[in-house]
Amino acid sequence: MNNFIKPQRIWIVGASQGIGLELVKIWLTQGHQVIASARKAEQSQALMQLQQRFGKQLHCLNVDVSDATDCALKAELAWSIFSGLDLWFYNVGAYQPMSTAEWDFSAFIQMNHSNYLGAVALMVPLQQRFAQQGHGRWIWNASLASYFGLPYGGGYSAPKAALVNLAQALQPELATHNIQLQIINHGFVRTRLTEKNEFSMPGLLEPEQAAAQIAQAVAKSRRFEIRFPWQLRIVLSALRWMPYAWSLTLTRKMLRT
Ligand SMILES: NC(=O)c1ccc[n+]([C@@H]2O[C@H](COP(=O)([O-])OP(=O)(O)OC[C@H]3O[C@@H](n4cnc5c(N)ncnc54)[C@H](OP(=O)(O)O)[C@@H]3O)[C@@H](O)[C@H]2O)c1
Repeated sequence: MNNFIKPQRIWIVGASQGIGLELVKIWLTQGHQVIASARKAEQSQALMQLQQRFGKQLHCLNVDVSDATDCALKAELAWSIFSGLDLWFYNVGAYQPMSTAEWDFSAFIQMNHSNYLGAVALMVPLQQRFAQQGHGRWIWNASLASYFGLPYGGGYSAPKAALVNLAQALQPELATHNIQLQIINHGFVRTRLTEKNEFSMPGLLEPEQAAAQIAQAVAKSRRFEIRFPWQLRIVLSALRWMPYAWSLTLTRKMLRT
């Protein structure tokens, strides 16, 4: 059974813009208590305006997930703000498409921190707190890109695939502590991340639409994987299941000529 009808204490990391900011708006409107984090959450105009409207229901907290010491410190702080957490939502993401010839190692490191290691840096201090509390929910926003590596997108999708694999490994163990771990694999959303794409994006959603779908699924679904849209999922799942001789022949056609 879902208890999302009761006010929840939510920590969303990656909340200053895009999908995260829209989720904050929805959850505040629904009456939840929200801690909104990003590198400069406390300086964000959009979050400040929400704070004027929602007062103590919203707390802004700066955290840089590429800094493990900062993560440990802020996890403790976040835990203390509303005396515990019901939901930790990891939404940080970074995307830089690149070919092998133009591979930018520092951008790749940044994507690994944002898309994968940052979740681990926060999980380490949070795990004990949630276990002591005896209940809670973790939701990690991955991507449908985690299903199959596509040309020029590997720097983004490889750490997302690692995040999904890690979640699969952790889920049974966390469940024994009454901590429910879920992942979200969704498709294209118009944000600063996808601004970098030069191709047409099938099923592109506005951030408000994506956040509404996520919020609805978070409130209703207890499934391990929340996923949409189904059309893109089917295509990427097919790549995953067909023989490599076929899938790699298809993805070779995506190379720039
Ligand atoms: N857009 C899409 O098409 C799409 C598709 C599938 C999955 N996703 C996933 O959805 C999530 C949200 O994406 P979005 O498109 O809304 O991206 P976005 O607009 O760029 O938002 C990303 C958020 O993460 C924060 N952030 C980035 N680096 C950080 C760091 N080192 N420490 C703390 N916070 C950091 C950003 O704030 P600051 O930069 O101010 O720190 C921002 O609040 C990501 O996980 C993304 O991979 C997006």
